[in-house]
Amino acid sequence: MMGRTILVFLLLVCNYSLVAVAETATEDLTALKSLMDTWQNTPPTWVGSDPCNDWDEIKCNGSHVISISLSSTGLAGQLSGDIGSLSELQTLDLSYNKDLTGPLPQAIGNLKKLSTLIVVGCGFNGPIPEEIGNLQELVYLSLNSNKFVGQIPASIGNLSKLYWLDLADNQFEGPIPVSSGSKPGLDLLHHAKHFHCGNNKLSGPIPPKLFSSEMTLIHVLFESNQLTGSIPSTLGLVQSLEVVRLDSNFLSGPVPPKISSLEKVQEMYLSNNKLSGSLPNLAGMSVLSTMDISNNSFDAWDFPPWLSTMKSLTTLKMESTQLQGQISPSFFSLPNLQTVSLKHNELNGTLDIGTTDGSQLRLIDLQDNKINKLDQSGRVSQVKIMLKGNLVCEETGMASENYCSDSQPSDNQYRTPFNNCEPGACSAEQLPSPNCQCSYPYTGTLNFRAPSFSDLENSTHYATLHDSLMQSFEFHDLPVDSVSLSHPVKDSNQYLVLSLQVFPSNQDRFNRTGTSGIGFLLSNQTFKPPKEFGPFYFNADRYGHFGSAKHSKSANIGIIIGATVGGSILLVLLILAGVYACFQKKRAERAIEHNNPFRRWDSETSSGVPQLKGARQFSFVEIKKCTTNFSQANEIGTGGYGKVYKGTLPNGQIIAIKRALKESMQGAFEFKAEIELLSRVHHKNLVSLLGFCFEKGEQMLVYEYVPRGSLKDTLSGKSGFKLDWIRRLKIALGAARGLAYLHEHANPPIIHRDIKSNNILLDERLNAKVADFGLSKSMVDTEKDHITTQVKGTMGYLDPEYYMSQQLTEKSDVYGFGVLLLELITARKPIERGKYIVKEIKNALDKKRDLCGLYELLDPTMDLGSTLIGFEKYVNLAMMCVEESGADRPAMSNVVKEIENLLLLAGANPNAESASTSASYEDFSKGSGHPYSNESLDAGAVPPNPKIESM
Ligand SMILES: *[C@@H]1O[C@H](CO)[C@@H](O)[C@H](O)[C@H]1NC(C)=O
Ligand SMILES: *[C@@H]1O[C@H](CO)[C@@H](O)[C@H](O)[C@H]1NC(C)=O
Repeated sequence: MMGRTILVFLLLVCNYSLVAVAETATEDLTALKSLMDTWQNTPPTWVGSDPCNDWDEIKCNGSHVISISLSSTGLAGQLSGDIGSLSELQTLDLSYNKDLTGPLPQAIGNLKKLSTLIVVGCGFNGPIPEEIGNLQELVYLSLNSNKFVGQIPASIGNLSKLYWLDLADNQFEGPIPVSSGSKPGLDLLHHAKHFHCGNNKLSGPIPPKLFSSEMTLIHVLFESNQLTGSIPSTLGLVQSLEVVRLDSNFLSGPVPPKISSLEKVQEMYLSNNKLSGSLPNLAGMSVLSTMDISNNSFDAWDFPPWLSTMKSLTTLKMESTQLQGQISPSFFSLPNLQTVSLKHNELNGTLDIGTTDGSQLRLIDLQDNKINKLDQSGRVSQVKIMLKGNLVCEETGMASENYCSDSQPSDNQYRTPFNNCEPGACSAEQLPSPNCQCSYPYTGTLNFRAPSFSDLENSTHYATLHDSLMQSFEFHDLPVDSVSLSHPVKDSNQYLVLSLQVFPSNQDRFNRTGTSGIGFLLSNQTFKPPKEFGPFYFNADRYGHFGSAKHSKSANIGIIIGATVGGSILLVLLILAGVYACFQKKRAERAIEHNNPFRRWDSETSSGVPQLKGARQFSFVEIKKCTTNFSQANEIGTGGYGKVYKGTLPNGQIIAIKRALKESMQGAFEFKAEIELLSRVHHKNLVSLLGFCFEKGEQMLVYEYVPRGSLKDTLSGKSGFKLDWIRRLKIALGAARGLAYLHEHANPPIIHRDIKSNNILLDERLNAKVADFGLSKSMVDTEKDHITTQVKGTMGYLDPEYYMSQQLTEKSDVYGFGVLLLELITARKPIERGKYIVKEIKNALDKKRDLCGLYELLDPTMDLGSTLIGFEKYVNLAMMCVEESGADRPAMSNVVKEIENLLLLAGANPNAESASTSASYEDFSKGSGHPYSNESLDAGAVPPNPKIESM
């Protein structure tokens, strides 16, 4: 009798029928199973025949699937046409699965009830099927940050309920479709509030028909496309507009005076076009806070008097716009004004910035004008004035004035502070949370497309953002312990980019339910940032740390059993054994899932061109033009891989282009890997990647141009200037910080593998920047703390331990850095005439003697007569870095601290560079209302995700 009870019980347990409600409809089950045939890495709970009850990340209404939410689950493969058979599906979120590739199937058009379709940050390619126009219920469409090509389907104009249209960061080309006759177009989307179409290759004119008084748009973002023709005056009819970005196109003709009637526009970017004539009087735009019209082809014009009436203006950028004459002093009295950049104009006369108290003004950049006098009575301390390249700075004795020096924006090292605790050391890929717990955070970047502030130094903004994120996670019951924000930077699109780390609560990692919940919160704009941050999108990194997450439903059963049974110990033991057996069976099934080959990029890149945020794709023609057909005059370097060229973009920006030789070209996979790696790291001591060209059998990487060339050239005397002791320490510090960032803050950590003086570049202020990640390898694929790999690197800098064992760790970079430290004081190549610098120094080292007995070996240009304060400590540090055993070498962060101490000891401020510059002040808003403030992304318009609500 008891035996039978147990048997029945076990059967029940194994089928989970204790918690079953309604069985999933057969057609939905079949569709899901077919979808799984083209997917890898589906959630481990996706087994069995009752998805509605047993599978995570799926939500049903009765027996039909209404929501699939697989954001950030590591899903790979393609989306098959079987999706079209889920007849009741309302929400499909596949965001942030970078290995989800291929086209969107035509059958997606069968989903008559679909209201939310999100694939942001995946690897989809191919054109958008016209059938998308059949989704009559669609409200929210987010296809941004993929590799879609072809034209924007005109049929999108049929989506009469559409509220959110995000097509940005793809490779869409051709015209913006508008209706004509029976053919639909975007002009019919009267409910749409958001057209986010930046960073594509859209061409042709902006059709005047696109805009009418019936449109209710608040954000029109078409920046960084190839649009031509003039700005249609019909834009002035869309009275609801709050943000307009038409910058970085090929727009010509005059700015239509009619846009002056756009009374709600707060941010307007028209920069980097070919606009002509003169700017009309825009005094009617009474809440305009940011205006950027830089780099256009305007006629010569006087500084317009009406600008002095723009009471809301906080940020004005009119660089290279042919402005002439004198700036009216009353302009600087505008109450909200914070940043004014009028570089490269013909402004003349006296610069009088008045004396108004309580002014918000932080930066006036007037470099390269004709100003001959500065009257700054009263405001000296709070306003940074830049006048280099003006008459006033040419007078003798003036060049030493602060306002005559050039300064560059400093990189912002902000990071959410630790919460009254000391972080300990975390293992391999774990990171300390703000609460000092080590775990595997979910990471990505928040990209704000038109923030109303740009005082990136003011951490109040980040604290507010942090709190609102935490509130949102808590409100939606997501398993989040804490959140860290770091490294705010403005990217080449003028987007504010912030790194986000989300740490799990109670565990050291998230399971898929956790990441898909967080992903959805950010992908469908459930989370709304504080108003000053404006329109945004989130892009998640791969999350590679899903553990063997417990099957939640098994856990429930355990509780039910425990509560129901009790009594007989034998019975309990037997049941536990049964549950264990079931659990083992599940585990076996899961193991099979895990063994599915993970579809990596390499299988897909042969055709796919990488498309990344922050890194722009350049066409071959564009690069050819800006290097004057790769002329010899523009060659600035050469190496085994090919040549490096200097180029000038149409907007005047100077770039460096690394062009691979045919024979040294990497596979598409390596090339993409390199781009992905480079575009992810942003630090002032790392050379940043601006873009790439992958076309016509060419592989080129486009970097920021670092004007003073390599440290190697400087040490060899080629560059023609000398480095004193303090400067050398500062260069060492810069390089160390760059490396420490790669090792300890990049996610995943990056080992450089080829540290050498060739790869340390110097900017105009001699700050060091680490370059060339060509041989880098991120640690993403390793479980342990080392990578077994083919030995690469440069003789002389190569870590002997790595060479012997082929096991690469960060400590190999530390070795190379140690050699670099020696090179920095000796100005000798690591191996010169058969002599190895490390050995030479070791042999000569005698701490009892002056300069440690190294006098003969040191670089004579270093002024050895003066006291080199901290020299012995420096040599000790270098020797520690080149210890035989990696374990005995310090970590880069310790090296950074040591060098900082050396600088302090020598009486120099290790942070002097960044502290003395404040050019990152561009705007400094004090909450004068933002685009989002009046917007209601009403709950009715965007269906809340049932999965999230039930969590
Ligand atoms: C400034 O430039 C304007 C126009 O180019 C010219 O008419 C004026 O005389 C100049 N003023 C001074 C003080 O140089
Ligand atoms: C930072 O920004 C906040 C909010 O806009 C403002 O209230 C505060 O005064 C700013 N702080 C500084 C130091 O400028």
